[in-house]
Amino acid sequence: MGSDELTTDLQITMRKKWDSKEERYFGIGIFRPKTEENLGSLWRTAYIYGAQFIFVIDAKYKKKSSDVLKVWSKIPLFQFESTEAFIQTVPYSCKIIGIEMDKKALTLDHYEHPDRAIYLLGSENNGLPKVLKEKCHELIALPGKTSLNVAVAGSITIYDRITKMAK
Ligand SMILES: C[S@@+](CC[C@H](N)C(=O)[O-])C[C@H]1O[C@@H](n2cnc3c(N)ncnc32)[C@H](O)[C@@H]1O
Repeated sequence: MGSDELTTDLQITMRKKWDSKEERYFGIGIFRPKTEENLGSLWRTAYIYGAQFIFVIDAKYKKKSSDVLKVWSKIPLFQFESTEAFIQTVPYSCKIIGIEMDKKALTLDHYEHPDRAIYLLGSENNGLPKVLKEKCHELIALPGKTSLNVAVAGSITIYDRITKMAK
């Protein structure tokens, strides 16, 4: 193959429109998680179903010996000291989606996930505080009369995202 042909191929590749699948990412995290088990379970789901990162706000996490997949080596856990520190890091063109049973929440079954999303869950004790809910671009609620376990709520949301986006 001559160098002219090579240049042409390269130019065609560069002109090619990006596949919209390449313009997507998501992360998920919990505000003040109470148990490391819940965080560990969510981390595992997040890794297996393609999240780029996981995070906690106002909590510390220590590596667990029960973590057989060594998820810490697969996707990073970011630890934000405060709500403000978290808000400051939200990237351009990325939505914060609060997962919460709230009057204003959209129902998950009809929800269309944004390409770039940060999903935010509340603490086991008190859920998401008002100040954080107000920072969310959207709130979504899963069906059920009473609340689910936080890791389960996060895992169902992730599964919903990947199945809808695969269509
Ligand atoms: C155990 S729940 C918190 C319950 C807390 N006692 C309250 O009344 O707010 C922990 C977190 O799981 C998530 N969660 C649980 N069930 C949910 C549902 N049906 N819809 C949306 N989020 C849910 C929310 O992020 C919630 O903050």
